Amino acid sequence: MTKKHDQSLSLSRRSLLGGATALGAASVLNSASAGEVNPDNLPPNVPEWTPYLGEGVDANPYGLPSEFESHVVRRNVEWLTASAESSVNFTPLHELDGIVTPNGLCFERHHGGVPEVNPTDFRLMINGLVDRQLIFTLDDLRRFPQTNRFYFLECAANGGMEWRGAQLNGCQYTFGMVHNVQYTGVRLSDICREVGVKPSAKWVLAEGGDSAGMTRSIPIEKILDDCMVAYAMNGEALRPEQGYPARLVVPGWEGNMWVKWLRRLEFGDMPYMAREETSKYTDLMKDGNARMFTWVMDAKSVVTSPCPEKAINNRGVQLLKGIAWSGRGKIKRVDVSLDAGRNWQTAELHGPVLEKSLARFTMPFEWNGEEMLIQSRAIDETGYIQPTIQALQAERGVNSIYHNNAIATWMVNKDGSVDNVRLG
Ligand code: MTE
Ligand code: CO
Repeated sequence: MTKKHDQSLSLSRRSLLGGATALGAASVLNSASAGEVNPDNLPPNVPEWTPYLGEGVDANPYGLPSEFESHVVRRNVEWLTASAESSVNFTPLHELDGIVTPNGLCFERHHGGVPEVNPTDFRLMINGLVDRQLIFTLDDLRRFPQTNRFYFLECAANGGMEWRGAQLNGCQYTFGMVHNVQYTGVRLSDICREVGVKPSAKWVLAEGGDSAGMTRSIPIEKILDDCMVAYAMNGEALRPEQGYPARLVVPGWEGNMWVKWLRRLEFGDMPYMAREETSKYTDLMKDGNARMFTWVMDAKSVVTSPCPEKAINNRGVQLLKGIAWSGRGKIKRVDVSLDAGRNWQTAELHGPVLEKSLARFTMPFEWNGEEMLIQSRAIDETGYIQPTIQALQAERGVNSIYHNNAIATWMVNKDGSVDNVRLG
């Protein structure tokens, strides 16, 4: 079956590339967001934007996306939370390519709104089991040796509504609590050396400077391994929403630990049992016990096109796109099924494939008006395979909110529309 599929695919790919006119017509049909096609702008006419001078270099001191891209925005679900200050909006994953999430599209999750931190008055205080209790300014942090690393950040509650069944009909709402950014900052191991961490120090309490006073305990091994204090993202200062002027980066671990508007690191010999690691961010199992300190985000993937927001508009060859990530290291392989997991094909993995970072995959397929059940499954370099929801439920029940990394299913209907469905 796979073979037959492949043959028809290469045939139609040839015919698609062979007919330039057909390709042009198809892409115009696809540009739904640009509105009605104006035939006056199409070849061989001179389009309306050609005869006149465009805007000068003084028009946009800070560049913004084209007005035709105004639908590419973060979105929140109003009924989900009681207030916008303790809430979340979601990354429009279905509109993105590559592995970098643009700064203005990184989902935001905060518990007490976005504080306006004046960088001149910003201080990072280090106290507890250290030889020298120090207070750093932002300039102090910038004078440390620098590290530049791509990492994904996923909220542990990403997909948390989907434990018992499909809920929200969108890729953005069911997977959009993840972003992938290049962070610039200081390795925590360098800061530890500077303050002289005592051998008795086993845990670090990270504290945020927002009104939520977010605090989390992080084991010293992780702090010394790859944690960093970041002051820049994707080449520019952190955005206020992402913790300006400095945040903790805890690669591969649940987003809640990445304390924003960081103000203090306290070194201690025990976990601090903060609200966010006792009452919240624990996983209620089916026997009534709750797991604590489930920090690592296991391998996960999602098809970002087609998806509920990205219907299929025309028959023939399609390009399936998606992202995969693992908190345990690099993504090794991504498989895609078009028939609910009965047959799997290996997708093309695009470089760079980095540790604890999103990886991009694509796969061409042909659609001729039939129903399809599309799934993707990620496999990471440890050999871990993204589970089905049934396997996850068998282990953990359905009372959990956090750490749902199950395979999702998009159903392509006969009219090309796509729905979020639960099988079985
Ligand atoms: N840090 C502070 N100080 N306050 C917060 O409310 N929210 C946490 C974490 N760090 C939070 C915080 C949660 S739950 C997540 S998922 C991430 O920040 C979200 O990071 P982002 O807003 O950059 O996407
Ligand atoms: Co979170």
